[in-house]
Formats: sequence, structure tokens, C-alpha cells
Amino acid sequence: MDVSGYGEATAAKRAADLRDLIRRHDYLYYVLDRPEISDREYDMLFRELVRIEERFPGLRTQDSPTQRVGGAPLPVFQSVRHRYPMRSLGNAFEAEEIRAFDRRVRGILGESSAVEYVVEPKIDGLSVSLVYQDGVFVQGATRGDGETGEDVTENLRTIRSIPLRLRPEGGRPARMECRGEVYMPMRAFQRLNEERESDGEAPFANPRNAAAGSLRQLDPRVTAGRRLAALVYDLRYWEDQGRAAVSTHLEGLRLLEELGFAVPIHRSFESIAGAIAYLEEWAGRRGELPYEIDGMVIKVNDISQREILGSTAHSPRWAIAFKYPPEQAVTRVVDVSIQVGRTGVLTPTAILEPVRIAGSTVGRATLHNEDIIREKDVRIGDYVLVQKAGEVIPEIVSVLKERRTGAETPFAMPRKCPECGADVVRFEGEAAARCTGVSCPAQLREGIIHFASRDAMNIEGLGPAIVAQLLDNGLVRDVADLYYLGRDDFVKLERMGDKSASNMVEAIRKTKDNPIGRLVFALGIRHVGDKVAGLLADRFTSMEALASAGREELKSIPEIGDKIAESVVGFFRQDQTREVLRKLAAAGVRMKNEPEREGPRPFAGKRFVVTGTLSTMKRHEAEKVISDLGGQVMSGVSRTTDYLVVGADPGSKYEKALELGTTILSEDEFIEMAGKDHAIGG
Ligand code: IVH
Repeated sequence: MDVSGYGEATAAKRAADLRDLIRRHDYLYYVLDRPEISDREYDMLFRELVRIEERFPGLRTQDSPTQRVGGAPLPVFQSVRHRYPMRSLGNAFEAEEIRAFDRRVRGILGESSAVEYVVEPKIDGLSVSLVYQDGVFVQGATRGDGETGEDVTENLRTIRSIPLRLRPEGGRPARMECRGEVYMPMRAFQRLNEERESDGEAPFANPRNAAAGSLRQLDPRVTAGRRLAALVYDLRYWEDQGRAAVSTHLEGLRLLEELGFAVPIHRSFESIAGAIAYLEEWAGRRGELPYEIDGMVIKVNDISQREILGSTAHSPRWAIAFKYPPEQAVTRVVDVSIQVGRTGVLTPTAILEPVRIAGSTVGRATLHNEDIIREKDVRIGDYVLVQKAGEVIPEIVSVLKERRTGAETPFAMPRKCPECGADVVRFEGEAAARCTGVSCPAQLREGIIHFASRDAMNIEGLGPAIVAQLLDNGLVRDVADLYYLGRDDFVKLERMGDKSASNMVEAIRKTKDNPIGRLVFALGIRHVGDKVAGLLADRFTSMEALASAGREELKSIPEIGDKIAESVVGFFRQDQTREVLRKLAAAGVRMKNEPEREGPRPFAGKRFVVTGTLSTMKRHEAEKVISDLGGQVMSGVSRTTDYLVVGADPGSKYEKALELGTTILSEDEFIEMAGKDHAIGG
């Protein structure tokens, strides 16, 4: 990674190679969801490219992957006139309306022509148009009024699933325009709202609003931090000598994929009945998708048939949206409870009379904060309309005021923390109310739950119930105490046998060797999410260096601004922090990143799960062998698992692997694959 020895010519060659590599890995990760290298290896490539470009600014290109971090803020968005209008779709709410659509299509095309339909999800995001000139992304715009939109090119550049340069596999059109939807994946949405709530900012009502708010930011660095994604579903324009545009929608989707775009799931049907059955099937499965949808779109596959069908002023005659009913129900608010989070924020939750919505029972709805309760005027005893969107916590849409009896009671935020009795305050300009208690047990509990969570230290099995008991029994007072717990401490807890107690101790011990990026994230520094934690760990490589970093030094990392720098410096200044770090270090928790391991990495990019009892080594030893050799250890078997290593008495993971056709390795086979020298003693 030391680039200081590069001459300009070497640097140019290396930069071009790095760009190709990074592009390939972006494609594997963001489009195909099939990464071949670890995040760390990716970061190393990325850093090297950043350093070369810093040293030789002349080598920086517009389509370099480094240009995704977000450039300088704009004063205003320029407007862009669309080459072709961006129309909307006609809507249908009943199967009968879809049959009528099919009759209209056949009426125009003639009864004898065969019509094939393609069905795709209707992604609830924002439509955008993307223009590529000689294979390079040059302009992206929002839909606007359909004729003229806003130039959001700089913001779209930050979205990893939008290629900055087309893959040559798809050909090299002189000019190409495609259209698709920018959206916020459900997980990113939940995280963003959690962060906003803990920062005292108003949460977004739904992923669509969050995506819109994130894309229409004049400062592209804000967009870069929002984890947006894009799916492209329409090849609008293609200009290329010697190569015709596609003749069907399916070919278009295939070509878009070859060019490096992510396309929505889709399926084609030769009859409208098949398409309708598919629409109805997805109505009940919409929660399985990682993004929100509000229906499905049915499109005529053949482009020449589309041309015959044409458009009305508003929408094409060759496609229609089938809208799903919103997943809502009416129920009553029986109480409001308050949760105190890890940063002391008090979040009110409505306790509801249980009601079925979209196949599950809902008993609580988030109320976010005091202002939102006041705005919606939710009172205890009210009948309310509740909505469930995908995996997101249900929320109250509106109050049925006509059903009030006068017995409803308005809600007031408590003045004292319900968990520790300290004063509750609301800072100027913040929506959140906070507990001011320095030793509030709720904050500690949530902090430990966060510390142990999957994206943080990943202590398997240490969930909220056990954390609460550890605190109640006075066994831990901070996160470092976890590493001093023995089997006897766990045995004292409810429903904890000898075996589970040993497993807990082992699960905690295993996390001592985590890369420090995880630890930085796990400490729960305000405004430091897992991504920023990774950047900090990469730059400072040891906890000591990070703890003594000054504001300016922190801000030399492009993604880090005043807010984060302030928070990091403030965190490490606390005596409490220093004490926790001292205890963690004394317990043997890793405090610096080792330099890149030299030597063979035969498992690079492969994902492993280990199950059952192995005879020559412990499970964690096998896992260490895997990660030492470049592989990734997963906790459960899924479609992305490459190998399941099976010991004696395997359980459900084994069955799942059989079902999915995952390659199964016996202990001997695994040892052979690893090479004998690595296997024993890990
Ligand atoms: S096709 C001529 N396909 O729905 C319009 N649109 O009301 C061609 N949308 O503005 C659009 N998912 O933002 C199409 N798979 C999909 C879609 C989709 C979402 C949005 C798009 C459009 C709106 C139409």
C-alpha cells in the first residue's frame, strides 16, 4: 500500500488496474450480491487507489470508484429536460381490471397475435433517468414533472449499484439512457431512523420519503452516507453503430444486467391468467423483498407491439401497475410505554389491542417522539389506523377522531426517566427527549446489547434477556466486565444450564480477536456507525492512536466532518472510556489491527458454516483456520454459503444445507482443504 515509490507511469497503470478490480468487486457485491473478497481486502484496494490519486491528482478520472464519496455541495440543482418524457403508469386494484387491460391490448394488436407479459415489482422509490456517454455515467436526473427533472448526477454517483462505467460485456454504446428506481433498502431505512432518533432528529415516515430526502440533498456527502440502492427496469435509448437495440423487454433486462446494473426480479407469462396468479402470490410475499413495493407492474414484452400500442398523455398503453392494498387495520391504543435507548433517548411506543395485519399480529406501534404524538393527536383510548410496511415496526397513520367518547387521555412525556428517575430534558432544536442520568441502567443495558449485537462484537447468544439478568445480578457494570465473567456467573442466571453457561463464556472469548473496527463500532460512539468505525480503524489501526487523535486529524478522512470528529474526541476524553478500554485490553481484547497476513489464502471469498462436534479441534479453532486462510465464517446456512463443515451430531444447519444443495465437508475433507499445517491447533 505504500505508493510513494511509484513513478507516474507505474502509478497510472496500477490505478487503472485497481479501478477495474474495484469495479468488478462492486459489481459482485452490490449487483450480484456474491462478494468474492472480504470487506477488508476491498478496503485495502480502495485505499491504495485513493493514495495514488492523492499523489497524482492528474490521474483522477470522473468514473473512478473513489468519486463515489460525494463531491462539493451545489448551490441549487440544475434542471434537465428529458429526451423522452418520463410517464407514469395506469393503476389497477382488482384482477378484473388486469383482464380488461389484457383485452384492450389484444383489441389493439388484433386477437390473433400472441402477447407475452413480464411482471416485476413496483418499487416504492423515486424514478431516475441515467445517461451514459461512451460508457461513462454523465448525467442522472429525477423525474420531476415528467418533462423536466433535477440534475442529481453527483448524488447518484454515490450509489454503488449504479455503475460509473458500463461493463464492456454489454457492448459500448455511444450514448445510452436507462431508467429505474432509487430506493432505500429496508435495513438501511431502519438504521437511519434509529440514528436520527438518537440524534434527536425527526425520523422519516417511510423508506420512500427517506430515499427522496437523501437523493435531493445539495451536499452529495450526505447522500453518500445514506446507503441508497437502485434497480433499473427500462432501457430507454441506445445509440450504437452496428448493433441494434433489443427487441423485447426481457432482452433489455438481460442487456442492462450485462452492462452492470441491478435489475428487479421478473418473470414472463404467455397468458394473463398466469400473470394474475403471480401478482396475487406476491401480495402475501412482499415482506420477503429487501425493499418496499406498493404493487407489481405488468408490461408487454415485445417492443414492436409496444410501439403499436403507444401511450396516452399520461401513461403507456403497454403497461399497468397492479396496486396492493396498504397493509392497514383499525385498533385501539390501550397505553403508551416509554423505552430508554442506549443514548438516553426516550421513545414512546403505543400499546395496542392486538390486531392482525398482513398475516401477523401487531400489538405495538412506534410513536417516534413527542412532536409526532402531538401532530397526530394520539391519545390513550383512541381508535387508530395502523399501518405495517414490510419489516418496519408498525406505525399509526391517523386517529379516528369521530370515535372518541371523551374518555381518552392525552399523553405527556414523563419529566423523570422511568428507569432511573433522573431528569428528562429536551435540547434546543432536537425532537428527542433524553434521560440525563449518567448511570442510567437502561442506557447501560442497551449499550451492552448493542456491544454484543451481530454487526458489533457479534457475541452469539448474548441477547436482551441475558443482558438484563447480568445487570440485575450486579455481574456487569460496563461492557468490559463481560470478558471477566466465568461459567459460574452464568450458571446463576435463570434457565441457564452448565452447557449453555460454557457456551456463553466461549462465545464471549471468541470475540476478543475481532478486528478493531468492530470494537470501535461496538463502543457505541454517537454518530459512529459500522462504516465510519471501519474507516477509523483503517486509518488509525490501534485504539491508542484513535483515542489520542485530534479533531483535524480525524477530519482528514473525507467521510468525517465536524459532527463525528467532535463526538469521537469527546468520547475518548471521558475517564469512563479510558477505564473501559484499559479493562478490555487487560482482558486480552485486541486493541490494534495486525498487518495484513502474508501467505496463502486458499479460502478467499468463500463462506463457511461449521456445525456439530469436531474430533480434532474445537469449533472456534476451525473458524480461526477459515478466517486465517481468507474465508468468511457465517453463523447460519443460506444460499450464499459455499461450504458446511460437519462434525458429529449436526443439527438443523445440516438439514438446511442438504435442502439448499450446499457443499458439505467432513472434518477430514476440511483439514485436507486447509492443508495440514493449518489445521491443528489453529
Ligand atoms: S415502468 C412509462 N417498472 O412507478 C412508465 N415503473 O407510476 C414506465 N416504478 O414513475 C415505468 N417500479 O417510478 C416501471 N418495475 C417498474 C417500476 C416502476 C416502480 C415507478 C416509476 C414510475 C411509476 C409509475
